[in-house]
Amino acid sequence: MPEKAHEKTLAVLGVTAASQVSGLFSELAATAANELGRVDSRDLFEKFRVEWLGRKSGVLTLAADNWLKQAAPELKPAVGQELNKFKRDLESLMAARLAAIESGSDDSAPVRDRVDLSLPGVIRPVGSRHLIRQVFSEIEDIFVSIGFSVVEGPEIETPYYNFEALNIPEFHPVREDMDTFYLELPKGAPGPLLLRTHTSPVQIRTMEKRQPPVRVIVPGKVYRRDNPDATHSFMFHQIEGLAVDSDITFCDFTGTIEYFVKQFFGPSVKTRFRPSYFPFTEPSVEFDVSCIFCGGGGTGAGGGSCGKCKGSGWIELFGAGMVDPAVYGFVNYDPKKVSGFAFGMGMDRLAMLKYGIDDIQVFFQNDVRFLKQFP
Ligand code: FA5
Repeated sequence: MPEKAHEKTLAVLGVTAASQVSGLFSELAATAANELGRVDSRDLFEKFRVEWLGRKSGVLTLAADNWLKQAAPELKPAVGQELNKFKRDLESLMAARLAAIESGSDDSAPVRDRVDLSLPGVIRPVGSRHLIRQVFSEIEDIFVSIGFSVVEGPEIETPYYNFEALNIPEFHPVREDMDTFYLELPKGAPGPLLLRTHTSPVQIRTMEKRQPPVRVIVPGKVYRRDNPDATHSFMFHQIEGLAVDSDITFCDFTGTIEYFVKQFFGPSVKTRFRPSYFPFTEPSVEFDVSCIFCGGGGTGAGGGSCGKCKGSGWIELFGAGMVDPAVYGFVNYDPKKVSGFAFGMGMDRLAMLKYGIDDIQVFFQNDVRFLKQFP
């Protein structure tokens, strides 16, 4: 539409047929709607009203004067109809606009999208890594600094990796302690499969893939049919360690473990090995640290015996030992040429001891008040 078309006659605009009339009014309506969309106050509304509906020189008056009154007789009915329709539409659009301005609920796009920079922002709290994750990082740093690398394995295992290849044949009494959650598989699927009871299967998976020297740690979730209490959970975290080479001795084993414990708990903690039994290590040990709650004296804060170590002054940390030569047979290593050690720590218990947490269940309850204490 030429600028200010309503100030010119239809003849000047070249409108000679009724079919051109509605296009002319459509363009005028589009201009009006566009301008009205920018009206967001009473003052602007009044300005708009005078500009479009003002009696003397409003757009509507000029359109009536220039288009309707001076139209050729055959165009008059069409122009009259379009002019009335345009007026009706414009008035109802204006009424809606005014109502929106007065109610303050102006929802037109320009107003809705306007950002009020003076409003305070929304502060979203920043989360932190779970304490178990943090403890794993600490453990990882210590072992990586002495030449270990990190590997992972599946949480769903076959009985072969979880038991047999670790020298625990079917019906071995040790399975009793560790028998676990077996998966219900679809008919015909190869099985059985179970949730691993320890991270030790990854020893086998690693030795199958790599030739010595092997030095790895394996973090991960494990599952047992244990009843929950302050130190037991049916799902918990272990960190496995395995070192196999041509000349690894029991001294390398104890030196590595003691180095780790002093780095993790600090130099003042005392350590001890106790004889134990695992089918996949020979000899096997349990490794204890002096109780960090009572300082190893066995006496609690109230004078009675320490509740955490049950008065013994020692807390069991993990099982370990020299890799049983029978295990090498499952991975095609020559037991005459290689030797090594392995250990399996309860990561949750390490975290509890180091950070003075007296109930393992708090790790899995997702209580933000607990989690916030370890940013
Ligand atoms: C084992 O799981 C062996 N695989 C460890 C091992 C690895 C021995 C390599 C020799 C060589 P055990 O069942 O003792 O061992 O578990 C190891 C640690 O896991 C325990 O010392 C304890 O810290 C933790 N643990 C065991 N059961 C639970 C449980 N239900 N909840 C929380 N922590 C547990």
